[in-house]
Amino acid sequence: MSPPSPPAPHQAEESHRTKGLLRLTMACNERCPFCNVPAEDYPRPTPSEEEQNIELDDFIASGERTLTISGGEPTLLRRRLLSVIRRARGAGVPFVELQTNAVLIDEGYAAALAEAGLTSAFVSLLSHEPAHHDALAGLKGAFARCLRGIDALLGVGVRVALNPVTARRTQTLLPDYLRFVAARLPGVRSVSLSAVQPHGRARQHLSELLPDYDVLRDVVPEAQRVAAAAGIELLNPYCGLPLCVGWAADMARSVEAIEAEGGGWRPLPGIENRDDKTQGPPCQACALRTRCGGAWRAVWTERGGAGLHPPLRRVAPWEPGAEAAPGQQIFRAPGRPTPAQLSAARASVQPTVWLVVGALTEDDVPLLMSSGCTDLCLCLQTAALEAAGPAIAQTLRGLHRLLRLGVSAPDHGRLLVHMRLEGQGGPATSQLAAWATARGAATVHRAP
Ligand SMILES: C[S@@+](CC[C@H](N)C(=O)[O-])C[C@H]1O[C@@H](n2cnc3c(N)ncnc32)[C@H](O)[C@@H]1O
Ligand code: SF4
Repeated sequence: MSPPSPPAPHQAEESHRTKGLLRLTMACNERCPFCNVPAEDYPRPTPSEEEQNIELDDFIASGERTLTISGGEPTLLRRRLLSVIRRARGAGVPFVELQTNAVLIDEGYAAALAEAGLTSAFVSLLSHEPAHHDALAGLKGAFARCLRGIDALLGVGVRVALNPVTARRTQTLLPDYLRFVAARLPGVRSVSLSAVQPHGRARQHLSELLPDYDVLRDVVPEAQRVAAAAGIELLNPYCGLPLCVGWAADMARSVEAIEAEGGGWRPLPGIENRDDKTQGPPCQACALRTRCGGAWRAVWTERGGAGLHPPLRRVAPWEPGAEAAPGQQIFRAPGRPTPAQLSAARASVQPTVWLVVGALTEDDVPLLMSSGCTDLCLCLQTAALEAAGPAIAQTLRGLHRLLRLGVSAPDHGRLLVHMRLEGQGGPATSQLAAWATARGAATVHRAP
């Protein structure tokens, strides 16, 4: 049977898109010490062919355009893998990607994969130095066999992207890795710069595996320069790095930032970090927090957030230089937020969008929550506050509702509330300042 015709170039797969994942078997021929889905966690590693066909049919019915086949190591099931690829392509799925360590792929099998309709392979070439690759793969001789597999796939026209899974022992070698790829594997056009995710087997070896973010912050920009000079697309995937670890100046290649910008940070999913990652105290002052899922929880709990510092500081509207600060835009209204101000906020492409208002009502809250506003600054005159008239009571009800709703939003999507209290003030002002801080206001600024 001839392979299904390839998709037209303009339909090229967007490599940052979320993909359907079919794990063919959880069994594996390697023993990567960092594996996030280790074979020993799966007492029944291989589903029956029948179960798998149901999963595949569901995927085909979903209309998704890229099927990713992974594992474990899918090439262990040589015939089943070919049949799944053939079935998916035959049913009209335009892109089928294979995640593999490639050591079992020789020229003959690469030809069979291409004939079945495989469009791309995502290969775990873990280092350009054989000793590092073999140690990280947990298999002696894996490096040479992996290279042979990559050559074979490229030889039959399958697109290959590489995944180095940066670990502590390879963290300073990334620029050399890219130089090696450019020289030895010129057919490879894409490298996904992932770094050890502290899950699965990796949890048992965290201190020796988890890279040092202070080191990577300097190494990644050099890797980006080498990749750009060689025409290699370097991506920061979900299993990659927080923006402040080398990616702040290249957000267009950071999957979380792309998704957050494309989906908006609310109400669409935006950054989907499945609760694996979280932001920490430094992120509160970061102008890019709405484009970043933060760091793995273990980076905060076991490394104290080392290496994470806002690459762009959010500047409050009352601070000097706020209007021109990069990464943010400020819209001001003397009273309640206006429709024009809300739609300007929605149209803004900046990661931080301030609305500065002098009043609020409860009715404004849903409008604010669905606008593109990321930081609301409520400026109150303390004289009015002390007088406690009906307008101020209404504003405080709005503020109460806003703070209550904000707490339940995910970090990167939270509308931060800031207060500026202008004037000397008295007991009502101090009480409000304490109350707002306790209820989660990000800043309470007194300006006597
Ligand atoms: C679980 S593997 C299965 C496919 C295949 N056996 C392989 O090694 O490429 C799927 C992908 O996850 C990556 N991976 C595994 N554990 C990881 C971890 N702890 N952090 C980041 N990526 C990881 C692998 O490098 C591979 O690209
Ligand atoms: S939100 Fe946090 S983790 Fe992300 S770039 Fe800013 S400081 Fe770094």
